[in-house]
Amino acid sequence: MIRKTFVPVVCAISLLVAACSGSQKNSASPDMPSLKTVFKDDFAIGTALNAEQIEEKDPKAAVLVPQQFNMATPENIMKAEVIHPQWGTYNFDLADKMIEYGKKHNIKINGHTLIWHSQLPAFARQIQSVDSFKTFFTDHINTVAGRYSGKIFSWDVVNEALNEDGTMRKSVFLNKMGDNFVTEAFRLAAAASPNTELYYNDYNNEQPAKRAGCIALIKKVQAAGVRIDGVGIQGHWHVGKVPLKDIEESILQYSALGLKVMFTELDIEVLPRNFQGADVNQRMKSDPSLNPYVNGLPDSVQQQLAKDYQALFNLFLKHKDKITRVTFWGVNDGQSWLNGWPVRGRTNYPLLFDRQFMPKPAFYKVIEAKKDFANTKKGF
Ligand code: G3I
Repeated sequence: MIRKTFVPVVCAISLLVAACSGSQKNSASPDMPSLKTVFKDDFAIGTALNAEQIEEKDPKAAVLVPQQFNMATPENIMKAEVIHPQWGTYNFDLADKMIEYGKKHNIKINGHTLIWHSQLPAFARQIQSVDSFKTFFTDHINTVAGRYSGKIFSWDVVNEALNEDGTMRKSVFLNKMGDNFVTEAFRLAAAASPNTELYYNDYNNEQPAKRAGCIALIKKVQAAGVRIDGVGIQGHWHVGKVPLKDIEESILQYSALGLKVMFTELDIEVLPRNFQGADVNQRMKSDPSLNPYVNGLPDSVQQQLAKDYQALFNLFLKHKDKITRVTFWGVNDGQSWLNGWPVRGRTNYPLLFDRQFMPKPAFYKVIEAKKDFANTKKGF
């Protein structure tokens, strides 16, 4: 008798607790909103995955990622330093696991990245002759893009080839091959992987000067009759300073080129930093004042973060006809590269899920943006 009475009471209490706890829903709870479902008619929702998450060794991420995301980008394991460590030697183990992960969870994979001046293997950086460098360049793209042709949805073909003023970055690619290396990279990738979407990806390319350089670069590829399908605006922004006007103008201008527009590495910095951008080579000297929230994020900052993410998604929804994907650069705060850059060992809070994989107020404000958008459409 007690057992019959007991069970309904327990259920009622747990439901009541869940209902009152609001954002305290467990990240694995089936009744928590799903980003990919909420935005299924608007754009894909992606995340960057590290090796542990790809191998599903991170139990909370193993539940949360398939629940929330329908696209994924390898944070590091497809970069040349990892996948092509020695001349003619390729290490595809983790990249193959990423492809299998995508198949298992019905998550499309964006390859990152074929050509980037950072995380290049030492042998490539040390190549002296132009001919040998061109051989490395061609073999790398043909081998890597060729292997995943038909298995991968898209590639960041070239990453971060521009300076802040829109001129070409003086990278080893520019020095060895001239500024035509971008067009050549897309030409090779299109031939090696004909049914894969091909993107140019950069940070701060929503800023007018860099955007102008990015548009000129894209037009150069297009003028050569070479396929380029989209542009990635990485979206490494700062709390309280998200450049919404520049972002909207960039969506319009890139879309006018006939390109798909994506936000490919979205996170919002909440710690002090005296420069914008995401150049991994930049560093700041460590100082306690630069790591003020070791014991938790003040509510005022948490609320500003939520407000910024809501404003971004209001803008993304306004231009959902031009935007095909929004990818967060990491699943949760604990994983974020911003805990270690530009100052090592900081405690940052740039994403929608906290260190316990619980949704933050920003998560619910992103969901609210869709509700508001839907109501506007209905004329409420
Ligand atoms: O895997 C090695 C490990 O074996 C070694 O013990 C450890 C200690 O040095 O380093 C590990 O490699 C690190 C790697 O992340 C994997 O954790 C590299 O040092 C570290 O530099 C690398 O940082 C990545 C950074 O790109 C540089 O490649 C970040 O995780 C990643 O979030 C960041 O992502 C970039 C995008 O690819 C391009 N856009 C900017 C964005 C942020 O910088």
